[in-house]
Amino acid sequence: MMLIGLVLFAAWARTAVSELPPGVTSCPRTDNLAEYNKCILKQLETLTPLLVKGVPSLKLPALDPLFLPSLTVDRNLESLKLKANMSQIRVYGATNYVVHDLKANPNDLTVSLKVQLPHIYMSGEYDVQGRLLLLPLSGVGNFKGNFTDTEAQVSAQGKEVTDKNGVQRLEVDKLITKIRVGHGNIKLKAPPTHTLAADAAATFFNSNPRLVLDIASPIIEDTAATVSKALAARALSVLTKQELVP
Ligand SMILES: *[C@@H]1O[C@H](CO)[C@@H](O)[C@H](O)[C@H]1NC(C)=O
Ligand SMILES: *[C@@H]1O[C@H](CO)[C@@H](O)[C@H](O)[C@H]1NC(C)=O
Repeated sequence: MMLIGLVLFAAWARTAVSELPPGVTSCPRTDNLAEYNKCILKQLETLTPLLVKGVPSLKLPALDPLFLPSLTVDRNLESLKLKANMSQIRVYGATNYVVHDLKANPNDLTVSLKVQLPHIYMSGEYDVQGRLLLLPLSGVGNFKGNFTDTEAQVSAQGKEVTDKNGVQRLEVDKLITKIRVGHGNIKLKAPPTHTLAADAAATFFNSNPRLVLDIASPIIEDTAATVSKALAARALSVLTKQELVP
């Protein structure tokens, strides 16, 4: 009897306590997608200022600045070969987005979002080996960068899963980002043995930001997708399907 009591209490507690932060609600399912999108946009607008400091109930860390303890890149593109270990990365301005378009569909679990980021500022440490066109990239140091007028498009496909307790949840099945950084400017600070290479790389970037940003865009897009997917997975792990698409 005691056990049944406990199980019932647990079941009641799980449905009564929503992990959604105060003011954020789920949107009622409707065939009027325009109305549904308006509701989702309203929830996003309520949620965005909370994302700055993080939302513990959704397991989300502070997003502005977003701190990435380490980030590894190992890519072999035609014009850019890059092996990089970066650490202590801080990204400022990622929650300052302006939503240009939002389409969500509760029936096929798709979301697509077009946003503009007026100003992103980044800092961190790097340890890089590679080649950009004819310029060898090699060295260690600190980087700082300003990136303005970034257009980002995110398309995500969700899928339904049942967790080990039999609760229906949603997972991100696919997430694709398209990103175009409008303009960028970087500063590299390296120890004396690496100063020459760092100055050459920074000068090359700052005189050809459009060229370098276009060449690097697959790396920028994949990195943004990996980080977004990891953050979405954290929030989705505590929300039920019933709460998200009732
Ligand atoms: C990155 O770190 C790994 C493991 O610590 C190391 O093997 C590799 O050489 C590093 N790469 C660069 C470019 O520093
Ligand atoms: C970024 O912009 C800020 C303010 O506009 C400026 O103070 C800073 O020096 C810039 N940093 C880089 C790396 O361009």
